[in-house]
Amino acid sequence: MINIAVLGYGTIGSGVVEVLGINGESIKKRAGDQINIKYILDLREFPGDPIMEKLVHSIDVILDDPEINIVVEVMGGVEPAYTFVKQALLRGKSVVTSNKELVAKHGAELLDLAKERNLNFLFEASVGGGIPIIRPLNQSLTADEIVEITGILNGTTNYILSKMSEDGLDFDTALANAQKMGYAERNPAADVEGHDACRKIAILSSLAFGMQVDFEDIYTEGITKITDTDIKYAKVLGARIKLFASSIRGNDSHVHAMVAPVLIKANHPLFSVNDVFNGIFVRGNVIGDVMFYGSGAGKLPTASAVVADVVDAAKHIGKNIWTIWSSKKLELTDINQVQHRFLIRVAGEIEKAKAEANKLFGEVEEVMVPEITGEYAFITGSITEQEMKEKKEFLDGVVSIIRVRF
Ligand code: HSE
Repeated sequence: MINIAVLGYGTIGSGVVEVLGINGESIKKRAGDQINIKYILDLREFPGDPIMEKLVHSIDVILDDPEINIVVEVMGGVEPAYTFVKQALLRGKSVVTSNKELVAKHGAELLDLAKERNLNFLFEASVGGGIPIIRPLNQSLTADEIVEITGILNGTTNYILSKMSEDGLDFDTALANAQKMGYAERNPAADVEGHDACRKIAILSSLAFGMQVDFEDIYTEGITKITDTDIKYAKVLGARIKLFASSIRGNDSHVHAMVAPVLIKANHPLFSVNDVFNGIFVRGNVIGDVMFYGSGAGKLPTASAVVADVVDAAKHIGKNIWTIWSSKKLELTDINQVQHRFLIRVAGEIEKAKAEANKLFGEVEEVMVPEITGEYAFITGSITEQEMKEKKEFLDGVVSIIRVRF
C-alpha cells in the first residue's frame, strides 16, 4: 500500500479524494499498488464528512510518519506551502502539487532537492488544469528545441471573454459565474489581472528553455480593460479577444514572454478554445506545431492531473524522474523591442483622429462598427512596443489599445 497525505481540503483536495474514490480500482492497477489517503491536513473541521477520521491539524504528524511516501500539496499560495513541501522532501517524501505560485517561485530549488534524494517533485496540475503539458514538455518533446509556447492558460478569463462575446454577459456577471463554478482563484484579481497566466507561462518557459524564467520579468496585462465595445470591434473583424500567455524564441535565440489580451482570427489554432477550456500551442524546431486542449480549471479535471502525478510518483519510488530546470536565470528580451500590430480606438472628431493616425502611423487599416459613433478605430502596421508607447503620447483621446495577431 502507498500511503499519501493531502495538504488542504479545498476544491482540489476534495477532488483528489473523489477521483481516488471513483477510479480507485483502475488507479491501483496503474500504480501497481493501492493508493491510500492516510491523512488530510486542514485547519478547519468538516463535521459529518467521512474524511474527519483522517483529518489532522499539524504537518508534523505527516512529516513524522515514515509510512507516508507521497505528500500532495493542494493548499495554494507560497506560504506555508513552500515550508511544508521543502520539509516533506527533506524528510524523504515525494511531493505532488497543483500550486503554480509555489512552482513558479521555487520550482528549480524543489526539483533539485528531490533529485538529490532520489525523490520526485511533480506538478502537472499547476498549468492547464487537467491538460497534460508538463509531462509532454519533459518527456515527449525532448528531441526538439522549443521555439514558441502560446497558451490560453486561465480558464476564468477565457470563460469571461467567451460569455461576454457569445452571450453578451457583462464582465461582473461572467466573473461571478466563474467563481460559482469553482474556476476562479480565491482572489479573482489573480485571474483577471493576468497574474495566474503569468505564473503558468513562467513555469512552461522554464521547462521549455531549461532555465529559470522569473514571473516578475514577464510583461503582464489582464482583461479588466476589455469592454463590450472592444468585443463589437472584434466581431466586425471576424476576430475574438483571448488572453494569451506567450513565450517565443527569436532568430537571435533570445526569448520574449508576455501575457496580454490579443485579437486573433479563425486561422489561429487557439481561436476555438472557448469557455473554461485552456489550449496550449507549442512549436518545436523539428516536430512543428503541437496543440494541447482540455479543461483548464475545476475540481475534477485538476484533481485528475494531481492523481496521475501520484501514480507516477508511486511508480518511481526511489527513482528520480529527471527534469531540466536550472536555477540560472534566463534574461528575457526587453518587451519594448517586441513587434505587434495594434488596434487603436480614439474618441473624438473622426476626420481629426484619422489625420493624426495617418501622420503618426503611416498607412493604417480603418475599422468601422456601424452602431458605434464618436470614435475612430484603426489597426497599425507591425511596430515595436516602444514605438507604440511613444506615438500614443501624440494621439488625443485614446480609448483602448489591443494587440493584433493576424
Ligand atoms: N483560476 C485558475 C483558472 C484555476 O481560472 O484557470 C486553474 O489554475
